[in-house]
Amino acid sequence: MYEEIAAKKFKGLQSKDDYLILAIESSCDETSAAVTRGRDVLSLVIASQIEIHKRFGGVVPEIASRNHVSAIRNTVDEALKQANVSPSDISAVAVTYGAGLLGALLVGVSYAKALAYAMNVPLIKVNHVRGHISANYIADKSLEPPYLCLLASGGHTAIVEVVGYDDVKVIGTTQDDAVGEAFDKVARVLGLPYPGGPEIEKLAKDGKPTIDFPKGFHNKNTLDFSYSGLKTSVINYMHTAAQKGEEVNKADVACSFQKSAVGVMTENVEKALLKTGLKTVVIAGGVASNKHLREEMEKVGKKHGVNVIYPPLKLCTDNAAMIGACAYNLIKEGKGRASLDLDASASVSLE
Ligand code: KG4
Ligand code: ZN
Repeated sequence: MYEEIAAKKFKGLQSKDDYLILAIESSCDETSAAVTRGRDVLSLVIASQIEIHKRFGGVVPEIASRNHVSAIRNTVDEALKQANVSPSDISAVAVTYGAGLLGALLVGVSYAKALAYAMNVPLIKVNHVRGHISANYIADKSLEPPYLCLLASGGHTAIVEVVGYDDVKVIGTTQDDAVGEAFDKVARVLGLPYPGGPEIEKLAKDGKPTIDFPKGFHNKNTLDFSYSGLKTSVINYMHTAAQKGEEVNKADVACSFQKSAVGVMTENVEKALLKTGLKTVVIAGGVASNKHLREEMEKVGKKHGVNVIYPPLKLCTDNAAMIGACAYNLIKEGKGRASLDLDASASVSLE
């Protein structure tokens, strides 16, 4: 009975704009819920577990799952409260089903299924990475495909051609580590806490780019990335200095690493802009919060006369508002409806 009602209601939403979505995200170490209307965010609650995982130097999957279980109910209730709506005002429940930590995803997926069933509304499944890209629809209400996206997260580094709301083409990707992963690993070598990206950015402010770390695939005719060479080079630099008993200026290391890591991305974005002729480029993923990357992308925008868009800081890292924005576009295209047997997936293809 539920499935028929949900299918019917789902169809009814396609031609509407002003309905409310309750969105849930639990793929890694943030439990998040949001109420969205189209591209507007009525509320966004993020219960971060960063402080819990910090002492282990990274996310411990089992601990993440347990904390999602204890946080999810309050997070969802708080999102409804802050939006000043009741469950009966909600027209669809959206949830991240992958990619991410399986146990963590399962908490959000199970909770979303139960809510959708209890509220008798359609359940929408959202790909986490597509969610990151969709944060830009909240940032710029006039953004529409086609456009170029630099995806820079903990799990991905890619140049994506967003052809349609549910149609993306990966035209360049990392052959080894993701850029966020490189930030995290280099931070660890520098003795900085998890998550490393923001810590490197902070430390880099006090440094100068005095060290010439390699840029993967620099000057090569490819839109692909490689971050393992850069990462290894920083690690070797630190080890060699330690062996010689030399004092290292960590701020300079952070600044030099950040310059190389960002340089590869902007270089590839420039090549991709020339190749595709697209006039808008957006940045998505946790690394999009990096100020140096934003500034360098602004320069690329000016040089090529293209529009550069990136989400506000709160919407760059994991949050449920981006999941709601993505679900809204999927619904418009008649896509994304899941039945109650929806499963979480640790890996989901971006395309
Ligand atoms: O996009 P995200 O949630 O990861 C995936 O979905 O895969 O982003 C997390 C990543 C981490 O690697 C974190 O270190 C990085 O984004 N990050 C940053 C900054 N803030 C977060 N990297 C560089 N600079 C930042 N300010
Ligand atoms: Zn993420």
